[in-house]
Amino acid sequence: MFIMHIALQGCLRAHDVEYGITADTGGHIRYLLELAQASARDHAVERIDIVTRAFDTDFSEGDYRQACEYLNPKVRIVRLPTPDPNYRTKEALWDQLPAFTAALIDYIDGLERAPDVLHAHYADAADVAAQVKQSRGLPFVFTAHSLGLPKRQCAARAGQDVDTETADTQALERRIGFENTALRQADLVIASSRDEAEIQYADYPDYEPGRIRVIRPASDLQVFEKAESTSEVRRMLQRFLVEPDKPALLAIARPVTRKNLASLIRAYGESPALQARANLVILAGGRQSLDALEPEIADNLREMLHLIDHYDLYGRVAYPKQHSMADVPAVYAWARERRGLFANVAFNEPFGLTLLEAAAAGLPVIATDSGGPNDIIEQCHNGVLVNPCSTNAIAEAALALFEDRERWQACQTNGREAIALFDWSRHIDYYHRLLVRMRDPQPVRRGRTVPPQRDALLACDIDGTLVGCATSVQDFNGWYAGQAHMTFGVATGRSFHSALQILEQTGIDWPDFVVSSVGAEIHRLAADGVTYCRDAQWQAHIAEGWSRQAIVDVLAEMPELVSQSPLEQREHKISYLCEANTDIAPRLQDVLADRGLAARVIHSHGRCVDVLPERASKGAAVAWLADRYAVNRERVYVAGDSGNDVEMLRALPCAIIVANYCDGLIDASGLAHAYLARASHARGVIEGVEHFQAQSHAS
Ligand code: GLC
Ligand code: MG
Repeated sequence: MFIMHIALQGCLRAHDVEYGITADTGGHIRYLLELAQASARDHAVERIDIVTRAFDTDFSEGDYRQACEYLNPKVRIVRLPTPDPNYRTKEALWDQLPAFTAALIDYIDGLERAPDVLHAHYADAADVAAQVKQSRGLPFVFTAHSLGLPKRQCAARAGQDVDTETADTQALERRIGFENTALRQADLVIASSRDEAEIQYADYPDYEPGRIRVIRPASDLQVFEKAESTSEVRRMLQRFLVEPDKPALLAIARPVTRKNLASLIRAYGESPALQARANLVILAGGRQSLDALEPEIADNLREMLHLIDHYDLYGRVAYPKQHSMADVPAVYAWARERRGLFANVAFNEPFGLTLLEAAAAGLPVIATDSGGPNDIIEQCHNGVLVNPCSTNAIAEAALALFEDRERWQACQTNGREAIALFDWSRHIDYYHRLLVRMRDPQPVRRGRTVPPQRDALLACDIDGTLVGCATSVQDFNGWYAGQAHMTFGVATGRSFHSALQILEQTGIDWPDFVVSSVGAEIHRLAADGVTYCRDAQWQAHIAEGWSRQAIVDVLAEMPELVSQSPLEQREHKISYLCEANTDIAPRLQDVLADRGLAARVIHSHGRCVDVLPERASKGAAVAWLADRYAVNRERVYVAGDSGNDVEMLRALPCAIIVANYCDGLIDASGLAHAYLARASHARGVIEGVEHFQAQSHAS
């Protein structure tokens, strides 16, 4: 396989990347270089080119004009010249793109063999890749790294004036346009987090969730795991601080507006309690003179200095002027040795790499609730999410974690354990499987060459049914490989991307369909074998009589209901937690009916409450799919373990309850026909299907 990456932003080079030297020389470069290196370790990959733009600079000694630079024998950086010989920021790149695209097409035409796939990084590269795809028919994958639309929405929320005439606004609009082109034209979009896939992309005109796959970011973290503080770092920080051995609240970020370092200083400056408890340490890139920096960086640094002065934080805040890349792990370690915390309160953080570094270094985190950190905290349990616009929330969260030693310790332990999930070999394994299938849309599915006529359908709940026992999953995979006549899918309370993520994590092959959000959404695997298509007809069908906002308003008055996180809320699913162990479902149903609102309320696991359109449910969705796949209901097997499966199990004749069921499922009315398996989890599913198959053969 020959992969060609296209990446135009910042100062990209093979070694000693000058992170922070320009606003665009950030984490995406590290991501790209580590990705390429990890990718090259796979024997199936013969060659990787990273194509970028050649330019001269007056701010660096680095050679960014060299036509070809090798990272290793398989991976090279190729630099193509465009009319302007100078460095351009991402906002100013656009008029160089046509020339770059033409040069790239020439370059590809001159190669002995064309790449198998293009992988565009950042919006402007998507514009280039879309043109190359059009003219040379090469498939392309897109990774945004960071998106324009959430940035615009963020600015609007923060009440910043949007002047449509300014160059920055125009650049942002252009970028959003390119990102939408990618959604429309890319063969696959890779997102780093559910937040990116399900929320940040959702408002683009050509949003199609099934075209997006979440592949968890990875990072080489060994240096952070092993890090200890050094005497250089101690010297560098201690000269700022009157009490250098107090705990430190540490931030490491380029001083760009999105990173919101000003709010962190405000949070600290406005909280005498926090000042008494900890020092604030901010590593915000390096600088010689403020006047020589790009305007955005200079403005942010000036604001920081102004705030430090305004709150008179001298002796309590460290903000070194220079540091080397090698100092960074030691700075995390320095903070850990002082039982510190790491803070990333960006307005929006698509990725959150520094949170993984902090976790590896043993530092609990305070992280923005907007973007990738949601996923990281959910997976790692190594800190708390805060609203980045609330300085109060930031200060309170930090204080609470500083004060609770047990919690601090748990966050440290959890973070250190969980970072294993974010390693490159997992990432590459998934990424390459996607690329291989993309290249060969008629894959040998699970060992079968000719797809047989499929006349049976299996729909499994995920948590507690299909997954929950690793050896059971292995058995399931082996068993399923022999079920050539079966269409297989899942029916879950999770969202679509969350479902795909857990299946990937547990090693279950991509299902033919995904009924997600308790039946509120249906996706089917597309003919390309890689992406999914949303069932828009189902959406229209269940939308009948659904008054989302009115229901939200009515239920806001119920004190026992606590909203689940924004990620769990969907257009056709409103989810709460309710600790009160009462008959909450019928009660809510009555409350809503009294107000003339039609809805279905589902209670499960003793605490989850989902409110759905009346027509939506896992069972109805599976029945709908049985019709689409033209499978007789008698050959539809459904399996579940909990309250949110009851209705699905009731709705279909071949219903399987796995042995590890909960929510008193076995006593629920209307389930007399269900088969209660002796085995738990996926083994119970196999047992149940075999039971019904034997029954139908006997009759
Ligand atoms: C999953 C969903 C959650 C839902 C629950 C029960 O955990 O993430 O939103 O309430 O399933 O259906
Ligand atoms: Mg379950």
